[in-house]
Amino acid sequence: MTRHAIDRRSFVKATAATVAGATLLSPFTALSTNARASRLVAARGRREIRVGVIGCGGRGTGAAGNALEASPDVRIVALGDLFAERIARAQAGLASFGDRAKVPPAQCFTGFDAYQGVIAVPCDYVILATPPGFRPVHFSAAIAAGRNAFVEKPVAVDPTGIRTMLAAANEVDAKGLRVAAGTQRRHERSYLEAMQRVSGGAIGHVVAARVFWNMGSLWNVAPDPARSDVENQVRNWLYHTWLSGDHIVEQHVHNIDVANWAMGSHPVRCVAVGGRQSRTDTTAFGHVFDHFAVDFEYAGATEGGEPRFALSMARQQDGTAGRVEEVLYGSTGTARLTSGSARLTSHNKADAWEFKGPNNNPYVQEHIDLQKAIVDGTPLNETRQVAESTMTAIMGRMAAYSGAEITWEDALASPMNLMPPSLQFGPLQQAPVAIPGSSTSSASR
Ligand SMILES: NC(=O)c1ccc[n+]([C@@H]2O[C@H](COP(=O)([O-])OP(=O)(O)OC[C@H]3O[C@@H](n4cnc5c(N)ncnc54)[C@H](O)[C@@H]3O)[C@@H](O)[C@H]2O)c1
Repeated sequence: MTRHAIDRRSFVKATAATVAGATLLSPFTALSTNARASRLVAARGRREIRVGVIGCGGRGTGAAGNALEASPDVRIVALGDLFAERIARAQAGLASFGDRAKVPPAQCFTGFDAYQGVIAVPCDYVILATPPGFRPVHFSAAIAAGRNAFVEKPVAVDPTGIRTMLAAANEVDAKGLRVAAGTQRRHERSYLEAMQRVSGGAIGHVVAARVFWNMGSLWNVAPDPARSDVENQVRNWLYHTWLSGDHIVEQHVHNIDVANWAMGSHPVRCVAVGGRQSRTDTTAFGHVFDHFAVDFEYAGATEGGEPRFALSMARQQDGTAGRVEEVLYGSTGTARLTSGSARLTSHNKADAWEFKGPNNNPYVQEHIDLQKAIVDGTPLNETRQVAESTMTAIMGRMAAYSGAEITWEDALASPMNLMPPSLQFGPLQQAPVAIPGSSTSSASR
């Protein structure tokens, strides 16, 4: 592999131009600009940024497109997925990027060990976008091999996986690697500007938050009797906690991450309720819940000595009121945040503020930030932050499934490991729906 000298100034210029365009272009509409830019880059002798993808579904393909859009220097060099047809679909989805996204068959890998094939191909970073149950093993293998990474959220489904991620986070630091996480609000201009004001004291001491991801149902894949249990569950992964963590972890982690960001730490304990009322068919919808509400307590008391808290609510039920946002309450004001919009009110008029834009495309920005850190050699390690937010969501699920109040220490120390002992296509009994107050679910404790 040829490595050319890195022209940092051109890199920053190219990526800045892409950010400006990001609000106008979808990840797959930048072809002609990028293809032209790619030829120019080669002519100027700048080095390629080589990217491997593990998990070539909707997000893996989307993230690969975002990486390609982030810089004309990017080339996709390896693809890995459990299923060959997903690789073919990803290649078709990225066809508009031309040669930059064409991967030779020898660098496409399938099966449960596909991640090892991708990691073995020399590259500047790997995108990890399988269902999150596999993330700790894939991430720790990538870091052990010295790869930088873009790691999709959530990063685990149980405390055992979180401990693996936290150990790998230390290895990232020790090896001087770079990691960006798919909690894209941390890369979105409206959030960054608002949170900079919040941490600067614009709403005073943050004492409470309400965070929501309430929506209708998502896709599901009906089981095929010709396929094994494991294959059916992996194809319908949202509905099996060993794969998705349940929707409080898989989806609501985004809003929980904002609560932790505003509070400056993870919670110390929580109590929760949850259940399933509309997705009751266990053949179609596995054993996960369709609603959760959690009261997270944080260290650092209010003026009256009460604990700081975040109310978190997540629902996937058709025909119900939708709401995806975070509201922060401080001693002198409030902040209301959602993608592309942010508004601060305050007792002090000078602190009142509204985001007026322009916003950026945070999915592209994540890759701009990671690529810049890799090229410039500056530190970037978002592993701990996303692992803590994932653990917060797992702790909420443990409290809801079990009905118990749970502390952070106990949740993090739990021996719970939801991964089946042997990973291969074959029989695997579906977990039962958790019933709070009884110990029916292995995902409770
Ligand atoms: N940041 C965001 O806004 C965002 C949006 C969507 C999804 N996501 C996250 O991205 C991840 C993937 O979600 P998705 O929507 O792309 O799902 P998906 O089902 O579309 O894709 C997952 C892919 O992983 C493959 N896969 C499954 N097990 C594998 C294994 N062991 N090894 C290799 N490949 C394997 C599947 O075949 C599939 O192609 C999830 O963690 C999800 O939470 C993040």
